[in-house]
Amino acid sequence: MSFENTDLLAPATHTDDPEPFYEWHREQEPLYWDPVSELWSVARYEDVIFVSKNPQLFCSGQGVVPKLSFDDWPEEAMINKDGDAHTKQRGLVSKGFTPRRVGCMGERAVEIATELIDAFIDKGEADLVKQFARPLPMYIIGEMLGYPRDRMDEVLDWTDVYMDAGSGPDHITEEVQEAFANFVEFHEEILEQRKQQRGDDLISVWLDAELDGEKLSEDMLMFEHNLLLVGGSETTRNAISIGLWQLMKHPDQMAWLTENLEDGDAVATAVEEMIRFASPFVRMRRTATQDYEWYGKTIKKGDEILILYPAANRDPRVFPEPQKFDIRRQNEQPPLSFGYGKHFCLGASLARLEARTAVKQLLSRVKDLELAGEPRIHPSSFTNGLEYLPARFTKR
Ligand code: HEM
Repeated sequence: MSFENTDLLAPATHTDDPEPFYEWHREQEPLYWDPVSELWSVARYEDVIFVSKNPQLFCSGQGVVPKLSFDDWPEEAMINKDGDAHTKQRGLVSKGFTPRRVGCMGERAVEIATELIDAFIDKGEADLVKQFARPLPMYIIGEMLGYPRDRMDEVLDWTDVYMDAGSGPDHITEEVQEAFANFVEFHEEILEQRKQQRGDDLISVWLDAELDGEKLSEDMLMFEHNLLLVGGSETTRNAISIGLWQLMKHPDQMAWLTENLEDGDAVATAVEEMIRFASPFVRMRRTATQDYEWYGKTIKKGDEILILYPAANRDPRVFPEPQKFDIRRQNEQPPLSFGYGKHFCLGASLARLEARTAVKQLLSRVKDLELAGEPRIHPSSFTNGLEYLPARFTKR
């Protein structure tokens, strides 16, 4: 079967059984030109690494969302920068994101997970997206950003809507713009409060952070705030929900994990597999900085190229039996879900901590966890995620 006219920006390409296309792409067309959306993509593990670690050839500075011109949607966030500008901005922001600060969230993550489970455990059934995987990372990043708890659900509703802009310009609807405008207004409110009185939160840290005598500009602050919010609230939930779904499909693995919840390595290895299998981001974009010959084709300067994380994470050259969900999988090379190189996910250790906590808390409190209906996948060409994961269980 040929996939020559596959539209990389169509949500169905990535949500509706994508593996046949990814396999064809990896094995027969390692550098794919999409004639519909007019951009390139790579799918092999080593090619995703090559593009990610050569920003002098494939830069982030024109944006990481495909077909979105910075004239329409200028984003002063670190993810859209290269070289010194990126290093400097990442340095400033990561001041609020040290391992110590993330480590401090461990206890809070347990408390928040416990609170969420308490709310549904007696009912014997729950939507594990809405009642667990979705709010958990939001409440954690919300606390790190210093939000009042009573605003967090509302903010999460906005990010759920404007996250769809990541699928490309066709997805920037009025609803998306309105949701983003709500965030901007909220940001200004919070910023004003923090200017009056600093707290123990990331926004306060960024307000005071300086590198070479320079502070973050107002625009940078707003876009970094947004990046951390969206990175924090819209990704880890998918590793948790898709991981729990897979565990329910593999009761033998769930039973083994439940017996080994006190073994930190066992939980960590299981969570790595959940993150590989889920690949919460479908792709990021890069832009060619010069003409480049590759696989007998010419990528022209200015062409866009997508790096497809789920395809790389199922590359059989690196992951034996890649379609198999196996929580004891010992990887020789890491999955690429968090990216690679200079832009490697700043929140990876927080995401891992959240997912480990979620699995441990849930499995230690319920037994006979099983699907109670058909899960619903969120249609997107940007993220891999579930909207609905109905489950039933017995309280331990
Ligand atoms: C399982 C969950 C997550 C996944 C799969 C994920 C994935 C990624 C990927 C693929 C990138 C690289 C982007 C690129 O190369 O263009 C990235 C960058 C980033 N992520 Fe995450 N992320 C996750 C969780 C988080 C969390 C919890 C936060 C923060 C609270 C976060 C914040 C960021 C930031 C700030 C960057 C930009 C880093 C830079 O440009 O230097 N992420 N993430």
